[in-house]
Amino acid sequence: MLLGVREVVAGYGKKTVLHRISLEVGEEEIVAMIGHNGAGKTTLLRTIFGVLHPREGEIHYRGARIDGRRSALNVRDGIAFVPQGHGVFPDLSVLENLELGAHTVQKAEVADRLEAVYSLFPILGERHRQQAGTLSGGQQQMLALGMALVLRPQLLLLDEPSLGLAPFLVQRVLEAVVEINRRFKTTILLVEQNVRQALQVARRVYVIKVGQVVYTGAPESLAQMQKLWQLF
Ligand SMILES: Nc1ncnc2c1ncn2[C@@H]1O[C@H](COP(=O)(O)OP(=O)(O)OP(=O)(O)O)[C@@H](O)[C@H]1O
Ligand SMILES: [Mg+2]
Repeated sequence: MLLGVREVVAGYGKKTVLHRISLEVGEEEIVAMIGHNGAGKTTLLRTIFGVLHPREGEIHYRGARIDGRRSALNVRDGIAFVPQGHGVFPDLSVLENLELGAHTVQKAEVADRLEAVYSLFPILGERHRQQAGTLSGGQQQMLALGMALVLRPQLLLLDEPSLGLAPFLVQRVLEAVVEINRRFKTTILLVEQNVRQALQVARRVYVIKVGQVVYTGAPESLAQMQKLWQLF
């Protein structure tokens, strides 16, 4: 197990969003998290990443407790977070965005990391001088993934990477997620609204409802899928 969330309670101010939520992600797994708007998916990713601190419960990563730890430390320890709405800097070029993503990477390694991103997303190499804000939605999402990838994370937290994209681009982004997992052996916890596609790439799935897990399992069998639709 790479990541373990145990009975976590978290929220904003007096409002509790996560109600004793528990989940696990194994080494090199792709795990999908699905659930309605407001279920607490983003809140859980933020809590894992250390932007929010749980009021109760524990978060374990690589055998150590990390709940309450600052996100800067988590980044150094191999956790990367691509937020919902991706967070690229529109005024900066593709290359400048990637360099920002790599600001904690040793100088001597940056060129190799950029090369790896360009080999995965050739369009970013071709457009490295272009202003990020003028890229298409799908290309901006690739860039957001690239900004996380230059860190060579062990655990990648992805919050709705295909949000707002046309169906063929949703497919393309999810293929990229699988490729990242395969090529860099990156463990991925993926929040997705495109349930059908998410289930095609994930080894396991968690369904979240009002801050709790209501279903977990392998997504393959139709019976399970139907059960899942009902829960959803
Ligand atoms: N900064 C905040 N301050 C107060 N409440 C918040 C804040 N962010 C989120 N919430 C509330 O927490 C609950 C869970 O929000 P969260 O963003 O985690 O849901 P989600 O599952 O990611 O939804 P979506 O699918 O729409 O992204 C919602 O009721 C939301 O209004
Ligand atoms: Mg969200």
